[in-house]
Amino acid sequence: MELYRKITGMLDDESISMHVPGHKNNTIGALSDIDWRYDMTEIEGLDDLHEPSGVLQRLNDRLSMKYKGYTAQMMVNGTTNGILATVYALSKLHERFIIIEGAHKSVYHALDLAAAYHKSITLGECASFPFEKGDVVVVTYPTYMGECFDIENMIALVHSKGGLVVTDEAHGAHCDIAHGFPRSSMSYQSDVTIQSYHKMLPALTMASVVFTRDEMLHSSIMKYIDYFETSSPSYLVMLSIEQAHAFYVDYHPAGFFEKRKVLIEALRRRNIEVQIQDDPAKLLLLHPDITSLSLADAFIAQNIFPEMWSDEGVLFCLPLFHDGDRYPFHSLLERIGVMDFNGSIPSLGGFSVDLLESRICIQSIIPYPPGVPLVHEGEVITSEHLKSITHYLRNRVRIEGIKSNIQHYKNEDDQ
Ligand SMILES: Cc1ncc(COP(=O)(O)O)c(C=O)c1O
Repeated sequence: MELYRKITGMLDDESISMHVPGHKNNTIGALSDIDWRYDMTEIEGLDDLHEPSGVLQRLNDRLSMKYKGYTAQMMVNGTTNGILATVYALSKLHERFIIIEGAHKSVYHALDLAAAYHKSITLGECASFPFEKGDVVVVTYPTYMGECFDIENMIALVHSKGGLVVTDEAHGAHCDIAHGFPRSSMSYQSDVTIQSYHKMLPALTMASVVFTRDEMLHSSIMKYIDYFETSSPSYLVMLSIEQAHAFYVDYHPAGFFEKRKVLIEALRRRNIEVQIQDDPAKLLLLHPDITSLSLADAFIAQNIFPEMWSDEGVLFCLPLFHDGDRYPFHSLLERIGVMDFNGSIPSLGGFSVDLLESRICIQSIIPYPPGVPLVHEGEVITSEHLKSITHYLRNRVRIEGIKSNIQHYKNEDDQ
């Protein structure tokens, strides 16, 4: 029972969550109303998520009302599942995908599975890019770090050229929850938008919803959701979507902005620089005298767990504070007040990546989080890549794919 001991140990140590899922160790929202006995399946009286017509369809219908003109479908395998199904469905009808920089690995996995032609461009290149009729543009909005951009104009431009926009809104299920939060891409007629309810709303991990504007496209996506998603969807996850939706509809933000202000002041008193993001539920933190890793370590030493850290800073995903929440806010402030800052220089622990220089990447190298590929499979690994990889490793960022590449080339060199 090692995993059990690990998790209960963290809770016994009163760890404070500044990371996803949005229920923050069940201190936000009302997940406690869900009981393990509710873990049911498609028995008489319940419904089939892959062809819903009863209670699950009525819940989908309520979710659809979030944005006028959209059809919603719950998913229990995360936004990853929605992206796989959407890209796969669209690859049957469209020839070219345009991927805007910063896309999650699931987008590339989907393109790979579908063997779809794609071109990657930066956000800055969008305005002058020669979009063509039938292009499918895939964009992440808001970003993991909580940044937004003028998605309204981007969608209008792509539509004016006869293209479609798929928005990976994994980090934006709380968009439009109240005044002061980002607008969803659905306010601007994105063709397909996929939201991870579990990231920023109080839902169970893997709870996600795909929203589609066109009925035919919705049906094609449903076909591939059926291919990619478990055929035994978790009623617990679906119940948590229902709850998160009720939370969203009833949310009153006053307490959120007050507590956020108090938190920012407490951080600034400790000389921590607080970078305000477009999404008020994200804060990026830096300390002038120490690295992001050391700052993250200082939080973790107080059992405050950030979402991630990178060169840009330490990322906090704030709780959607509400009346009656159980989030340990006072303890958070107390712990910030006594944090110790230690700037020791981290080592690589004997890990060497030098043998990868100028080799072909055999498995995509992906810092995780955030899950945005640094080197794609088939690309040449350059010294610049290695500089970034070394830097990530020094900063204890997990990197998927690095071990397989090293092992592969070690074996090859040994032969
Ligand atoms: C931008 C982005 N898209 C998609 C995903 C996948 O979402 P999920 O965890 O719901 O499968 C993530 C996960 O971190 C992400 O950051």
